[in-house]
Formats: sequence, C-alpha cells, structure tokens
Amino acid sequence: MKLNIAVLPGDGIGPEVINQAVKVLKAIAQKFNHKFNFTESFVGGIAIDKTGSPLPEETLNNCQNSDAILFGTIGDPKYDDFEIKNRPEQGLLKLRKELGLYANIRPITAYKPLMHKSPIKEKVIVNTDFIIYRELNSGIYYGDKNTSEDGKSAYDTCFYQAEEIDKIAHLAFKAAKTRRKKLTLVDKSNVLETSRLWRNRVKKVGQSYPDVKIFFLHIDNAAMQLIINPRKFDVILTENLFGDILSDEASVISGSIGLSASASIGDNSVLFEPIHSSYPQYAGKNIANPLATILSTAMLLEHFNLHEEGDAVRNAVDQSIEYNITTPDLNSTKKYAHTSDVGEFISDYIIDKKSVLYHVENIDLGQSTII
Ligand code: IPM
Ligand code: MG
Repeated sequence: MKLNIAVLPGDGIGPEVINQAVKVLKAIAQKFNHKFNFTESFVGGIAIDKTGSPLPEETLNNCQNSDAILFGTIGDPKYDDFEIKNRPEQGLLKLRKELGLYANIRPITAYKPLMHKSPIKEKVIVNTDFIIYRELNSGIYYGDKNTSEDGKSAYDTCFYQAEEIDKIAHLAFKAAKTRRKKLTLVDKSNVLETSRLWRNRVKKVGQSYPDVKIFFLHIDNAAMQLIINPRKFDVILTENLFGDILSDEASVISGSIGLSASASIGDNSVLFEPIHSSYPQYAGKNIANPLATILSTAMLLEHFNLHEEGDAVRNAVDQSIEYNITTPDLNSTKKYAHTSDVGEFISDYIIDKKSVLYHVENIDLGQSTII
C-alpha cells in the first residue's frame, strides 16, 4: 500500500517521540513491502516562531493532501501570556476543526507487566479494556467565548447540535457492536441543557443498535467509577471537555500517560497522536516515552485495514515492555532505556524478531553489550 503521511512533530518532546514513530512505520514498510512517504510541517509554538501562525497555510495544505497525519505534541510555557487565540494549542484546535476531525478515539488497557506502576490496585485494574469516544469539533472548546474589556468577567459557551451528537454516536455504537456491546454516555444531564440533548439523541441513535446496551452516567460519578471499577466500561461516549478530562484520568490505569494513543476521525482526514502533552521540561533529554506515539501508528495502520501490520507494532511494544526496554516513567532502574533505544528496539524487532531477542537475552546474561 502507498500512503502519504503528514508528520507534525510540534513542540517539546514531540519531535523525539515522532522520530521513533516514523522509525517504526519505516520498519513496517520494509517488512511488509509498503510505500510510506513522510512530509514534515511545523505546528504549534515552533510554527509561531517560524511563521507567526500556530497553523501555517502550508501545514494545513500538507495535511489536506495526505492520507493520514501523525501529530506529536504542542505547547510551551513561553507562550503562556499570549492571547488565547495566538497560543500553540490553536494549531491543534484549528486543525481539528478545519479537517472536521469530529471523533477522538482513546483506548485504555491495563498492561499486565505494568500493573504495579498504576497507583490503583492491581485487582481493580486487571483486564480493564475500554475505549473513550470523545466529540472533538464542538462543545465548550469551540463555542462563543470572550473576556470583558475590564478583564473582570469572561464566558465560554457550550453549544451542541443534534447532528454533531448523532455523527459520533453512530461511530461509538458501531464500535460497541464489535466489542462487549455496552455503551456508556457520560454527561451532566442533571444540570446542563446540552447534556439533556446528548441523552435524547443517544437514545434515538441507539434504536438502530438494539444489541448494544446503553448506560447513562453523570461526569462526576463517572470520574469516580473509572477509578473504583474501570472494568465495567466498554465504550464511553462523551462530549469534548469531559472526554479530555476523563481520558487523562483513565491513562493512570495503564501506569503512565506515556502509553495512551489516539485516533481522530473525520470524513476526509484522519490524525493520530499521543494524548499526553509536550512536557517541555523533558524536551531534548531523550527520556520521553515514545510508546503512546508508536501505538498511535498501530491505530493508523489498522485504520487502513493493515491489521497484521498493526499487530506487529503492538507485539513489538509488548516485547519492549516485557524486556523492560522502557523509559524512566515506566522503568525506575538505572538500566532504563532512552527514547531512541525504545524506538530502535521496536523497529528492529519488527524487521527481525529473532536476532533482536537473541541480543537482548545475551545482554541479560551479561554476554553482550550491544543491541
Ligand atoms: C488533548 C489536549 C488538547 C485538548 C490541548 C493540547 C489543546 O489536551 O488532545 O487532550 O485539550 O484537546
Ligand atoms: Mg487533553
């Protein structure tokens, strides 16, 4: 298969983790005989520095002319005093809107060898496996907002239309159908009008999926249930802001936010990105966890029905975890791996499992010093 992939590394640790993801995709192309072309563009703070805009025209064109987008991370405290509309985050928010990326899909699993890394007890998180479907093009993120001239008052409006809810609801119900057939709508319908609209629409859309059982949960209760009983969730459907918050919370189940991948789906574009932020304090140190971005490439491959390829990435990630070839967030020993080591292990493993494992096992036996 031939794929043109726009690569937007962004700020902070973005370029380091994106490099590993590109390495992994190149290994997949080599192993499975695909042709992936990568075209890099600026986004976020670096784009502001280079062009004055967090989403330059050239970057948007690159994304519009590509089959998929691989996105790193954006943001840096040096822009904290900038007006909200000129901050690096606008690069991502405008991109999501311009490309109509209406659904953000965030899977959460508990990896067996990492369960001790989670602050939650193993017996609570074991076998956790759910997906958050977060609406990404509307709600309070994009509603009318303003600060008064005297700076003493401000507002943000949460606005939703039926068709926006229906569109992502269909996607989420379709996913639930192929899974454990449970969909939980997370809202705040005891207080918010928009949440009442969400409930009505989801009940209506659900009529087309009679085999999927619908549950309704208020966001405050959901935030608690996610920690005390995460196994009960299968597909969580929610609006933009609740989805942003819940997905960071959910990532603690996996042991590190550095493991959480995501796919953003539109009618004509797809974007893949880690859910974590740009961690400027880690930038350039080669210690950021690249697994979330690498797992986002697995989602990219699966989106194009390259399931064997997606599995190859996931298996290699599992092996890196099993052999403890992981960055300091997951590995507190002195033998932690650097960002680039993790990317190298995973891409080498994809190309030639046997010789990579041979070397790793020899290192463990003290018989070799190179991977
Ligand atoms: C995310 C991020 C973004 C969001 C920021 C960087 C604008 O937190 O993708 O979850 O709030 O959507
Ligand atoms: Mg977020």
